Amino acid sequence: MAHSEHHEKVEISKQAFLDWRKVPAPLRGEVIRQFGNELRENKIDLAKIITEEARKIVSEAEGEVQEAIDMCDFATGLSRQLYGLTMPSERPDHRLQELWQPIGVVGCITAFNFPMAVFAWNFCLAAVCGNSIIWKPSPHSNKCAEAIKNIWDKVSGDHKDLVQILQGGNDAAIDLCNDINIPLISATGSTKMGKDLAPLVAARLGRTLLELGGNNAAIVCPTADIDLTVKGITFSACGTSGQRCTSLRRAFIHEDIYNEFMAKLHTYYGTLTIGDPSKPSSQLGPLISKDSFESMQDTLKNLRSRNIQVTGGERINIENPNEYYVQPAIVEVEHIEPEMLNEVFAPILYVKKFTKLQDAIQMQNDVKQGLSSSIFTNDMRESELFLSSEGSDCGIANVNIGTSGAEIGGAFGGEKDTGGGRESGSDAWKTYMRRVTATVNYGSELPLAQGVEFDET
Ligand code: UN1
Repeated sequence: MAHSEHHEKVEISKQAFLDWRKVPAPLRGEVIRQFGNELRENKIDLAKIITEEARKIVSEAEGEVQEAIDMCDFATGLSRQLYGLTMPSERPDHRLQELWQPIGVVGCITAFNFPMAVFAWNFCLAAVCGNSIIWKPSPHSNKCAEAIKNIWDKVSGDHKDLVQILQGGNDAAIDLCNDINIPLISATGSTKMGKDLAPLVAARLGRTLLELGGNNAAIVCPTADIDLTVKGITFSACGTSGQRCTSLRRAFIHEDIYNEFMAKLHTYYGTLTIGDPSKPSSQLGPLISKDSFESMQDTLKNLRSRNIQVTGGERINIENPNEYYVQPAIVEVEHIEPEMLNEVFAPILYVKKFTKLQDAIQMQNDVKQGLSSSIFTNDMRESELFLSSEGSDCGIANVNIGTSGAEIGGAFGGEKDTGGGRESGSDAWKTYMRRVTATVNYGSELPLAQGVEFDET
């Protein structure tokens, strides 16, 4: 990818921002509404492209397009709610208030696993706030990006240039991060990627919004509804073939229900249909690449070499030489194993017994990442402890649902090695704006704050 293409797109994006920021926010919302309507019209076809590129099953691919549509609805509503606070001024005849203004060109780096929804999280907020966007999709997702751009071009009238796509790999991402013309970089991907890119943006005092790796855990307590829990855990661990940042990696099961729970979990895993993701019956498609497959196999090999109990994990459907279908793996451990501390983007679920809830919470939190977490219980003291300051340290904490599959209405993201950013719902829009504190004197005197006197004689 030529640097000249980068510069050209940044210039176009800057100009698009200068025009778009003048459009009143509710009218910006109206354009986003049209975008959402067009996504609705094309939901099935867009989902097919996701299935083709990301190899997601039909239902999840359609769910992903729905997530983008939901973001459009959310942003349309938000277009009339970009509220700033007004504070009482300490001075007579003065008004003190906050104004929220667009920040400029937003750089958006997305991963292969949510090739449309994560763009929509960023774009819908960025655009409704008055910004333009340069989007660098994953090299696995160029068709998805192109399809989205076509839809935007169809509905956006004079504002086509608001979305610029920059294809490429690491070099393209590095160029975005180094560019002083891009005040905000929003990046989704591995913790390593975030640690490589964030210092580049920090060196020019730019702003980052990072959504990086997870190592999500669920705690299953004695009062849990076992059948519901088995389904919740299986969807979180195996859905998208374990390739969500919210995928469940670790489960801590109370000793009183361990045997019953594990028997049902193994049985349920045995019913999963793994195969061509475009067939409606399939529940797991293949892994995205040979590299993913190999890192899954290396991890399982290391565990097996230490006599740790691994069920599943083998490659299946090998008549497709270029596709890596795997049986999801369950690894039952007696101690915390070093492999459990790393995120492997594949369906490996570590399971460990616990006795005391406080210990389970500590084990859950005792990893570098802090994205998503769950507790399964019908004891409100346990669920409230989990949600308290002594509970989960993650950005997402769920009760009686798995770790994945968040709705767009809440802020999405996590702490520690997950990067600290928040996207999507709630007040995540504020990251895409600059805050202006305005003090207005509508009197004829000039009183100074804190009682300071300057020109009294
Ligand atoms: C991701 O994997 O980067 O909560 C995003 C979920 C989805 C988004 C995942 N709504 O699982």
